[in-house]
Amino acid sequence: VRTVLVIGVGAGDPDQITIQAIKAINRADVVFVVDKAPEELVTARRAIIDRWAERPPKVVTLEDPPRDRAAPAYREAVEDWRRRRADVWEAALGAHDGTAAFLVWGDPALYDSTIAVLDDVRARGNLCFDHEVIPGISSAQALAARHRIPWAAVGGGVEITTGRRLSPDTGDAIVMLDARCAFTAFPDREIFWGAYVGTEDEILVAGRVRDVAGEIARRRAEARDRKGWVMDAYLLRTGDSRETPRRPGRDR
Ligand SMILES: C[S@@+](CC[C@H](N)C(=O)[O-])C[C@H]1O[C@@H](n2cnc3c(N)ncnc32)[C@H](O)[C@@H]1O
Repeated sequence: VRTVLVIGVGAGDPDQITIQAIKAINRADVVFVVDKAPEELVTARRAIIDRWAERPPKVVTLEDPPRDRAAPAYREAVEDWRRRRADVWEAALGAHDGTAAFLVWGDPALYDSTIAVLDDVRARGNLCFDHEVIPGISSAQALAARHRIPWAAVGGGVEITTGRRLSPDTGDAIVMLDARCAFTAFPDREIFWGAYVGTEDEILVAGRVRDVAGEIARRRAEARDRKGWVMDAYLLRTGDSRETPRRPGRDR
């Protein structure tokens, strides 16, 4: 059976690629690079191939279908986009023989649709393949390392979530995909924020939200204006070292 490799390649620092990922790149006959804005991230993936492929694979750029970000029904809009993406990937896999690879930003398990789209393509039943997932260093890991902090307090937990889902009920959390600076609603929490982590443009800010929210918003807006895009994430701590609530009659 044909193999498709889903390779996590780290979230910005070109040195944060694993030996397993390098070996996987070298198993590929064809590498698909999804042409998705911003251009810099496509270039970064190509640079990884140039640097690590001993026997350069065929590199094929796949056009990413446009996504309707203004659609009121978020889930339906994402499903429609995934379907159109599956059309493009199915045609590409059908047109290129051998071991194929998709390079994924960060880790494929974290807010990335590559695995789901490949599942969709396989479910259609027109192509027969198996896929392997090679983990990568995620932006959540890179962020914690740059701030020199652990994700969770001793014995505590941490939620990985999006800006949209952040609520007063959320405990300690790693927040990604937040275009609206949702942390500003939590002035008493502690934030460890990072943009373009691991790259030359990296910006890190940490402190009590009420003290640093203005600085983060300003530096974020400046960077976005300068580069045309911004990629940021943060760890938000409640600071009350809440433990997991005990269930009545249990956990004693
Ligand atoms: C579609 S998700 C992909 C996450 C990726 N799979 C990972 O493992 O990091 C994109 C989000 O990841 C975060 N992100 C990715 N790379 C980043 C970086 N170098 N610095 C800060 N945040 C990053 C941002 O929150 C961005 O909105």
